Amino acid sequence: MPTQDELKRLVAQAAVRHVLPNRILGVGTGSTVDLFIDALAAAGTPIAGAVSSSVRSAQRLQDKGIRMLDLNEVDDIPVYIDGADEIDPGFCMIKGGGAALTREKVVAAVARSFVCIADASKRVAVLGKFPLPVEVIPMARAHVARELARLGGTPKWREGVMTDNGNVILDVHGLSITDPVATETRINQIVGVVTNGLFAARRADVLLLGTPDGVQESFRVPR
Ligand code: 5RP
Repeated sequence: MPTQDELKRLVAQAAVRHVLPNRILGVGTGSTVDLFIDALAAAGTPIAGAVSSSVRSAQRLQDKGIRMLDLNEVDDIPVYIDGADEIDPGFCMIKGGGAALTREKVVAAVARSFVCIADASKRVAVLGKFPLPVEVIPMARAHVARELARLGGTPKWREGVMTDNGNVILDVHGLSITDPVATETRINQIVGVVTNGLFAARRADVLLLGTPDGVQESFRVPR
């Protein structure tokens, strides 16, 4: 039985086929994406440059000699490749385990196609077993925590973590997210929230799932 890390590597390698040569590439954050960056560099696929969702990925891309671009200088990202903490049958995701959710959401908003790369453990029927990350302005932390508790969740401050934007993360336990778009919208309305880790309004378009039987590729059915 392959390990989770082996499945991540498999799916990271498969994602290289989704990179459009000589075009700008959006690159997410996380251990699966780290493996993807390594696979991309090893394949030598030429790209016009990369827009990254974190300082961590930008550093790794630069170390591989890939040209980094500022999102403000880019108006078209044909493909964005990123991991997920959970993904449901409708391709809605929970993201932000690596605290990069806000920049991930921004790059995903610009991208035309979101390719999610995940090992099979990330596939769930209903989102919410993985605690939902919420990025919060530091002075609003206690207020936002109270509001999240009123919605039925149990928020826990991810102590010692500061996002690339200088904010803090609350991880919300105990949510069963049966309507991801509604929950994403509702949490974003809490004053002090920068964004939350539900990617439902802008969900994945393509899923590459690493399974013991190989990489399963599926495409979202348009709503
Ligand atoms: C980072 C993310 C990651 O995509 C998510 O946490 C999955 O990470 P990994 O590939 O390490 O399992 O959203 O903010």
